[in-house]
Amino acid sequence: MNRFGFNQFGGPEVFTTIEAATPEPHDGQVQIHVLGFGINPYDATLRSGAAAKDRPLDFPIVPGVDVAGVITAVGPNVSDFAVGDRVMNYRPIGGYSEYVRASTSKVAHIPDAISIAEAAGLPQSTVVAYSILTDLLRTEAGKTIAVIGAAGGVGSVVLQFAQYLGLKTSAIANSHHHETLASFNPGEIGHYDLEDVGARFADQADYVVNASAGGNDHGIGVRMLQRHGQYVSVAFSTVDKTIKPNATYLQVGAGPRPNVPSAFALLNSACANDNGFHLPIATKLPMTLAGVIAAHELILTRHGAGKIVCVAEELEED
Ligand SMILES: NC(=O)c1ccc[n+]([C@@H]2O[C@H](COP(=O)([O-])OP(=O)(O)OC[C@H]3O[C@@H](n4cnc5c(N)ncnc54)[C@H](OP(=O)(O)O)[C@@H]3O)[C@@H](O)[C@H]2O)c1
Repeated sequence: MNRFGFNQFGGPEVFTTIEAATPEPHDGQVQIHVLGFGINPYDATLRSGAAAKDRPLDFPIVPGVDVAGVITAVGPNVSDFAVGDRVMNYRPIGGYSEYVRASTSKVAHIPDAISIAEAAGLPQSTVVAYSILTDLLRTEAGKTIAVIGAAGGVGSVVLQFAQYLGLKTSAIANSHHHETLASFNPGEIGHYDLEDVGARFADQADYVVNASAGGNDHGIGVRMLQRHGQYVSVAFSTVDKTIKPNATYLQVGAGPRPNVPSAFALLNSACANDNGFHLPIATKLPMTLAGVIAAHELILTRHGAGKIVCVAEELEED
């Protein structure tokens, strides 16, 4: 089987095809025929070498934390999954592969309402969104949350989970993403490129989630925040805390280790009853070496709303 990885750090062109034996599932594991994998900003830092200091890995490195596909084999002591099940998997690395093996604690059935292509972009965003709302912010229904970067991979899931959990939502993004934001039906929509969002929603949010890639919230998050509100950033962000000195400032990754089964359970509940939960797909590319290189060129730029995913040939037209 093929995997897509690299033997040196550099630009998207360092990717190469790596042949490997198809991994057999061990105790408590399943083997997944991968039909799609998500491309995340983190993968680009693995490829460029920017992540190497914090996470030294041996070459070849095969990125990929988000996988969706169909189970093709089950190991001993697996009772909740069977061959043929549609599943997604949140994994530490190695998802850019035709087959993976995964522990069932990191695997979930794909909700009926979700396509394989969407599922390929959901695992990490689901886990991060769950962690933000339940572990870090401990949100309460009825309170107000503003999500900046709400059309992005993480932001769109945070926004929809927040709605499902009964919060009042404000979705903030570039006006290019207006239709995507409207498709989530949030309480309010704001476009930082068209108006002074910080002034319009000044001091209203109990919670602000900065889900912008690279952490730049255009200086509006802290202005939207209530005096004693909570601000959480998904990427490293420099916020002027002096504007709201009594607020709480949090960073994803600083909380407890995320509970993956609970995160997947929240996704399952949020998708039930045809309530319209969906993941926008920015670009669908083939699950080939050329597709992976093109995906990494795109992730370096400000792309369209939602996730970049690579999918198997049979799903390209879906
Ligand atoms: N700590 C963790 O565990 C963890 C986990 C997942 C993600 N992250 C980080 O969280 C951030 C969001 O991840 P994501 O997958 O949701 O990203 P994404 O979908 O690529 O981007 C989210 C939003 O950021 C804005 N954006 C995109 N590219 C940009 C650029 N080059 N410069 C400025 N803004 C840009 C866009 O919003 P507008 O067009 O509306 O401005 C986009 O919708 C990333 O920095 C990622 O590395 C961290």
